Amino acid sequence: MTDAPGAARAAARAILRANDRGGYTVPSARLYPFQWNWDSALVAMGWATCSESRGWQEVETLLAGQWDDGMVPHILFHAPSGDYFPGPAVWGLARLRVPSSGIPQPPVLATAVRRMLERARAPEQAKARAAALYPKLLGNHRWWARARDPERRGLVTTLHPWETGMDNSPAWDIALARVPRETGTPIVRRDLAHVESAMRPALAEYERYIHLVDLFRSLAWEPGRMLRQSPFRVADVGTNAILLRAERDLLALARRFGTAAEGAEIDARSARLAAALEGLFSATEGIYLGRDQVADRPITVATSAGLLPIFAGERAHAGALAERIESWRSAAVPWPVPSSAPGGPGFDPRRYWRGPVWPFVNWMLAQGFAAAGNAALASLLGNATARMIETGGFYEYFDPRDASGLGGENFSWTAAIWLVLAESRP
Ligand code: DGY
Repeated sequence: MTDAPGAARAAARAILRANDRGGYTVPSARLYPFQWNWDSALVAMGWATCSESRGWQEVETLLAGQWDDGMVPHILFHAPSGDYFPGPAVWGLARLRVPSSGIPQPPVLATAVRRMLERARAPEQAKARAAALYPKLLGNHRWWARARDPERRGLVTTLHPWETGMDNSPAWDIALARVPRETGTPIVRRDLAHVESAMRPALAEYERYIHLVDLFRSLAWEPGRMLRQSPFRVADVGTNAILLRAERDLLALARRFGTAAEGAEIDARSARLAAALEGLFSATEGIYLGRDQVADRPITVATSAGLLPIFAGERAHAGALAERIESWRSAAVPWPVPSSAPGGPGFDPRRYWRGPVWPFVNWMLAQGFAAAGNAALASLLGNATARMIETGGFYEYFDPRDASGLGGENFSWTAAIWLVLAESRP
């Protein structure tokens, strides 16, 4: 718990240092003791506020685990730990150069790299390091298109709730219920040794998560077979919005480090994705809704992921999204932005992605609304997030009713987001 911005800055930096394992940062010492993909992208931006070199290194270490086909896994198991399940043996990928999981996570990397480059206090170093990273980022975005949108419809498909990063979002309830609970791998809930079970996904969800891992392992992680055979297939608004933002940031990098042909390729992909994302906006709900691709139906559960197209730079519905955020606030649920609609299906204010506020989502929304000209909402989101962290502590997520801290403590991306927000606050 901190009581002043100066103390919060020192505490945030101390958390990054304590979670630094030498070139990469674990999200939290025992709950998540490896390198996570989108955590590291955000954490790199936090590091860059105090050590640019360490920020670049975070991304470089993550991309050292990139697969030959361009996929960047959601977890890199650089060093062993018994604190987490499922570890490298469950994924069956322990023999890789860098042992890893076999699925991706929303691609924030190009956004982090562009931000670090454009804000660099050491521009020559930044230019050299961003130039070296650019081909890897391009390879990763090509992987998304090839592996997850082979018919070039615009939206990429997600095959596992862990790929969305929003594991137990109520948006997945119906689609996930189709996945059998049987697993060939015994489930060991190591997370419950670190966090109360009321704040984590339920056992039935874990069984389905592991069923999918077992299936994909049996398919040798081959993207085409996974896409054809997964019983869970959704077009997630969050992943697609973050990818669209990343494509636009990659285009800015391509203009400095790439060829004209690469720029045209990225531009074409972004245009296709933007058009398809627009098709997910629901005028009746005033928010974007994902699509269940197995049932071929919209997912009619409103979550904070449905607001993220504003982060991508999609401004056509900025007013409706701002109204949706306002409509979710009340005397009983005053803290923005809950991860699912209060009172909506599956809302649970303390359980992971079913209701709590996530600081990095608020930062993304603040960025998007600021760019769309809604400075008042951007500063409301930024200030509320900083206040929550300064008074509640550097927790993983927060209760939208009273801002109490939930989940893992001394959490790296919460520290990083505080540092990033502090850069733009007086
Ligand atoms: C977990 O284990 O809780 C993670 O969200 C999976 O990436």
